[in-house]
Amino acid sequence: MSMLDETGLLSFPTDEETVRKNDMAHVLHSWAAQGHIDAVPIAGGEGAWFWDPNGRRYLDFSSQLVNVNIGYQHPRLVAAVQEQAGRMLSVSPAFANDARSEAARLIADLAPGDLDMVFFTSGGAEANEMAIRMARVHSGRHKILAAYRSYHGSTAGASALTGEPRRWATEPGMPGVARFWGPNLYRSPFHATTEAEECDRALQHLRDTVVAEGAHTVAAVILETVVGTNGILVPPDGYLAGVRALCDEFGILYIADEVMAGFGRCGEWFAVDRWGVRPDLVCFAKGVNSGYVPLGGVVLSPAIAATFEDLAFPGGLTYSGHPLACATAVASIRIFREEGILEHVRELGETVIGPALRDLADRHPSIGEVRGLGVFWALELVRDRSTREPLVPFNASGLAAAPMAEFGKACKSAGLWPFIHMNRTHVCPPCVITADEVHQGVAILDRALEVADRYTTSG
Ligand SMILES: Cc1ncc(COP(=O)(O)O)c(C=O)c1O
Repeated sequence: MSMLDETGLLSFPTDEETVRKNDMAHVLHSWAAQGHIDAVPIAGGEGAWFWDPNGRRYLDFSSQLVNVNIGYQHPRLVAAVQEQAGRMLSVSPAFANDARSEAARLIADLAPGDLDMVFFTSGGAEANEMAIRMARVHSGRHKILAAYRSYHGSTAGASALTGEPRRWATEPGMPGVARFWGPNLYRSPFHATTEAEECDRALQHLRDTVVAEGAHTVAAVILETVVGTNGILVPPDGYLAGVRALCDEFGILYIADEVMAGFGRCGEWFAVDRWGVRPDLVCFAKGVNSGYVPLGGVVLSPAIAATFEDLAFPGGLTYSGHPLACATAVASIRIFREEGILEHVRELGETVIGPALRDLADRHPSIGEVRGLGVFWALELVRDRSTREPLVPFNASGLAAAPMAEFGKACKSAGLWPFIHMNRTHVCPPCVITADEVHQGVAILDRALEVADRYTTSG
């Protein structure tokens, strides 16, 4: 019943029944109708696996919320948390702190180009909130352009930036956000037939949006470097460079939201590195320390940082640069380097995950497209490959979402924890997953996809 510990302070019931009962009675869960969920209790984890109190194990193709990049309970990162806990736990942002200074130095060092200063937050939404505030104050303009296919967080401003349906409930939100379509050849808003065409047309559309909004009113464009939850949309070569050039032409700042794509997911420290692009502000969270302690932040260009040399930065958070969070970022970056995790991710993406998923597509008519890189992949499920009709309608719930729900159930009952969003399943395991484990997970997907295949009309 009880967990033994040295202090006695952590002895509380850990059996499945009590955990579930208290959860259902007292915990309000995110994005869910509380009466329709049954949260699986997690008792432990290791590497790419977690398990419930009964020892039922799941291979995690979702890395929790695409954040446990280093894997569960990495022993060296756990030790670092314990060591820092014994040193110093509470230091307000107004003081200097060794762990915070070192984390900022390391992150600035890894950041693209000359970006050199960090404002720490407790997560991704706050990072985006702070980035748009910095952009507005620095530029003296107010509008932000954001993509329809995006998720930027759930606080007021971040929700207003978000393009997908999770923003609807918070509308009317923050004024001054205008929206555009980013590239997605599979469902091209521009009727393009090649990547190059999609790239050119998406850039022309962004230019038209800037002009129509009044370029002089636009402070920033915010973009997920690789769109995450809304589809794992890898930008065509030339798109990000085109966005950079467009921003330069009109004096607009470029904010890269790397909360999900950064710190290993794409096999790079920052996903923009893959395309050699230097944004003005880069937001990070999740993989920076794999969520062992909540942490996020914004890396600023020297020009933006200079704005706040004499002018007070109009923002702050009690936990900005929390020492425990910062120490885990330092330790995590070291572990990534010493264990060659970025190299592992690149290799896995190119030689294991990509080929295995494409092989699935050869056998399952429900797979419309396979796309991704690193440990960041999507299978887009369709009813009909020729029409590309999604397996479930946009933002479906209840009965309309049944095919995806059944597919998810089939994965879970076979011991695979899938990531599911609308008509897609994403393959986003921890960066440390082995090739053998990928194949185990793909074998489960293979069987679960038979459920999806039954809903196809094209055979
Ligand atoms: C691209 C992106 N930006 C921002 C966020 C929000 O981060 P957080 O939930 O830490 O506030 C997320 C979360 O999934 C995300 O994927």
